[in-house]
Amino acid sequence: MKENKKYTKITTHSLQEMKINGEKIAMLTAYDYSFAKLIDQANIDIILVGDSASNVMAGHETTLPITLEEMIYHAKSVVKAINRCLVVVDLPFGSYQGNSKKALESSIKIMKESGAHAVKLEGGSEIEDSIKRIIDSGVPVMGHLGLTPQSIYKFGTYTVRAKKSEEIKKIKADAKKLEKAGCFAIVLEKIPAKLAEEIAKLVKIPIIGIGAGSGVDGQVLVMHDMLGINRDFNPRFLRRYSNLAEIINESVSKYINDVKNKSFPNKNEEYN
Ligand code: KIV
Repeated sequence: MKENKKYTKITTHSLQEMKINGEKIAMLTAYDYSFAKLIDQANIDIILVGDSASNVMAGHETTLPITLEEMIYHAKSVVKAINRCLVVVDLPFGSYQGNSKKALESSIKIMKESGAHAVKLEGGSEIEDSIKRIIDSGVPVMGHLGLTPQSIYKFGTYTVRAKKSEEIKKIKADAKKLEKAGCFAIVLEKIPAKLAEEIAKLVKIPIIGIGAGSGVDGQVLVMHDMLGINRDFNPRFLRRYSNLAEIINESVSKYINDVKNKSFPNKNEEYN
């Protein structure tokens, strides 16, 4: 097996190189300084400041309520923490749809105020003009096709996308359009693995999957899900690498017990 090239700093060009060399791209979400620092130090390739912050940080049911200002707050904290990885920030719902001028302004605001390296937008042909305009301004764009949670009320469910021929045709055409528009990568969410693999072969830019099987160029997961902080979300595609909810619960229970039974603090933990 070919040894992976060691990158000291990840750029959009490194990701393209990884695809060409067959090195898989690892991406995770993060929303704050402390976790971003740990994840970057573990050598993640991309941190996505996802609008999933709306769910896992703010407790909203969907990704729709989070604002541009809130996304910038999270992105700023992440950017301060990282040395190596590429930081991509989601344009939140309402900050780009149906208005390419607004899309450009939102992207520039994110880049200027957070110091992030790229933005991500959900959708295909509907937002092609916005994507072109943002890229023309010098801001790298990551696309997002398949299950697009910002459109949940249009589709009504979070089920697997692109199972019918019409939708399959559209997603393939959209991937080609996003590539032509200049996107440096595309996230494919919750679509059949065979189709995702086909799309990864159809385009030259990296395809990052979530619930899209192993035939793509990289994977992304929501950090709170894969670390087992969030126990309420259990889709088939999710692999849990830790059970932090249990570890945190046990630690907090021990602390409460120690305080109540007066064993914390002890003599070594106080000042003379
Ligand atoms: O917001 C997010 O976390 C995302 C990932 C699920 C790709 O868009």
